[in-house]
Order: sequence, then structure tokens, then C-alpha cells
Amino acid sequence: MEDTLVNVIEAKGLSKTYGDLAAVDHIDFSVKKQECFGFLGPNGAGKTTTISMVSCFLEPTGGELTVLGKQAALAPRLIKQDIGFCPQEDNLDTDLRVADNLRVFARYFDIVGIEERRRSDELLHFMGLSSKKNSRIDELSGGMKRRLMIARSLLNKPKLLILDEPTAGLDPQSKHQIWEKLHQLKKEGTTILMTTHYMDEASHLCDRLVIMDNGKIIVEGTPKTLIKDHIGSSVVEIASGTEGIERYLKEKKLDHEKTPTHYFIHGKEVPSLWPEISAKFGEDFCALRMANLEDVFLKLTGRELRES
Ligand SMILES: Nc1ncnc2c1ncn2[C@@H]1O[C@H](COP(=O)(O)OP(=O)(O)OP(=O)(O)O)[C@@H](O)[C@H]1O
Ligand SMILES: [Mg+2]
Repeated sequence: MEDTLVNVIEAKGLSKTYGDLAAVDHIDFSVKKQECFGFLGPNGAGKTTTISMVSCFLEPTGGELTVLGKQAALAPRLIKQDIGFCPQEDNLDTDLRVADNLRVFARYFDIVGIEERRRSDELLHFMGLSSKKNSRIDELSGGMKRRLMIARSLLNKPKLLILDEPTAGLDPQSKHQIWEKLHQLKKEGTTILMTTHYMDEASHLCDRLVIMDNGKIIVEGTPKTLIKDHIGSSVVEIASGTEGIERYLKEKKLDHEKTPTHYFIHGKEVPSLWPEISAKFGEDFCALRMANLEDVFLKLTGRELRES
């Protein structure tokens, strides 16, 4: 049945409340087989809460949720057999060495003996950790721990891999290494649900994504269409404090965002206005660049730091 499944995840009106707080507030989304689907949003938006419900580690307080063709409320254990979950915080057992961390986890899936050793060796190799097999956890770098967490989540050959900020805090090399592995898994048929704060990561990996804010989905689409629909093709950045800029923006009625350091001007007219803008304000103070997902994120979720 699962092989004919179109949607690996279907959520309708999915909600989670804590007292008065709607951490996830009636969201609808579906994820297709072999798709990489991203959840983006500011701190506290509800991303971890959502994917924890999909992982069947957290019970929804409302709505309907089907994962791998089964209702999450009725078959959480069966669903867990076929998913891999890599939480936001590393939770490796620091009393155990690398290989033992995998061995203990494999037992949850009844993977033991020779089969366990073969699978663990394969995954350590896949994640570039073979030489660390007998290391203590505190001897690993942050990037290695993250790779080990992902290796651990793959022990049961999951059909659906769920990753909460898989590359948070990693250097660019480690990040690219993980991206490559995720691409490979996807090619092999794994469906991926992930959260990230890195817009380049979302653009690179996600076929589709949603941006959440305050427990709600505010927009959904492919990275390309979101950029095209909300920002346009290009953006002009101008340093804040540049003389006459406020007046110019008002006069021309240009769409823009403002931060303490920059103005970001977007919209269809930007490419044709660039010669005028660069001549007026000087190329040392402004730059024309391609629009990206970060522009969309900041436009839709605001730039100011949240209190909560
Ligand atoms: N166990 C809990 N009890 C009460 N409130 C909670 C609990 N877990 C999460 N929340 C609240 O739910 C909201 C959503 O939290 P969540 O962890 O899902 O956000 P997030 O989008 O993953 O944020 P971040 O980017 O910081 O990881 C927040 O307001 C958070 O304080
Ligand atoms: Mg989170």
C-alpha cells in the first residue's frame, strides 16, 4: 500500500496548544513521496512542535495527521518503525562510544548481531565517521556529532527522514558534506522533512517549503516561485544613512525592507532603476544582487528581533 502512496504526510487542521498558547495553530500541509519538504520560520514559530508531531513523539491537540498511510493517533509505533528522526538537540549517550551509541539505538528496531554491525559500519562510512568508531562522544567535534545523529536516524532505513536543523552551527564544509548525503538519500527514494534557519540550505535542498510564524503557515511554495512572487528577480541593497534615500523611496513608491544597516529594495522595476540608483547614490553605497529566499523570509516575517 505504501508503495502506491502519493502523500507520505497529510496534515489537516493540525494543532498543538499549551494552555493558552497555540504553538501550532490549525495547519494544513502534505508531503509527496521522495520530496524534500522544509519548514522555515523565526524562533518559536512552531517548527519543532510540528515535526515532533509528525514523528509521533508529541501528540497533537487537534486536527488530522496521516504519516506513511497510517493515522498518527492510531498507529504511532508502526509509523516510528519506518521513520528516522534527528532532533534539534544532539542527544547522544556520552557514556558510550560511537559504535555503542548506534548499537543501543539499533536494538529499538530489533537490529542486532551481525546485521547491526554491518549496518552501523555502513552508516559510519556513509557519514565519513569510520575512523571515529571507537571514539568517545566528547572527543567528537560538533559537526561529527551531527553526522553521527544523522547516521543514527538512518539505522532502520527509514522511508521518511525527519531532520530538525540538521546543520545548525556547522562550518561550510560539514554543511556541504551533509547536503550531499541528503541528496543521495533522496535519490535513493527517501522522503525528507526538515527545518532550517539557513536559507541557502532550504534553497539547495527543498523541493517545496512553508514559512511558519506564530504557529501558522504563512506561505507555501517552491523556493523559486516564492522568490519570484514575493520579491522579483533582483534586489538593491543600500547602506542605511545614505543621504536622500528615504525621500527617493517615498517618491518612487518602491517596495523595500529596512534594517539597522541596510535598505533592501525589491520589485519588478529594480533592474531598470539600477542605473539611476547607482548613479544617484554611488556604487560604493549600493549593490545590485539576485533576490534570494532570505529576502522572502524577512519580508514575510519581519526583521525585528522577537521578544518570545
Ligand atoms: N513543552 C512546551 N510547553 C510549553 N510551551 C512550549 C513547549 N514546547 C514548545 N513550546 C512553545 O511553543 C512555541 C513553538 O515552539 P517550537 O519549539 O515549535 O518553535 P521552533 O519554530 O522550533 O523554534 P526554534 O527556531 O527556536 O527552534 C514556542 O512559543 C515555545 O515556547
Ligand atoms: Mg525548533
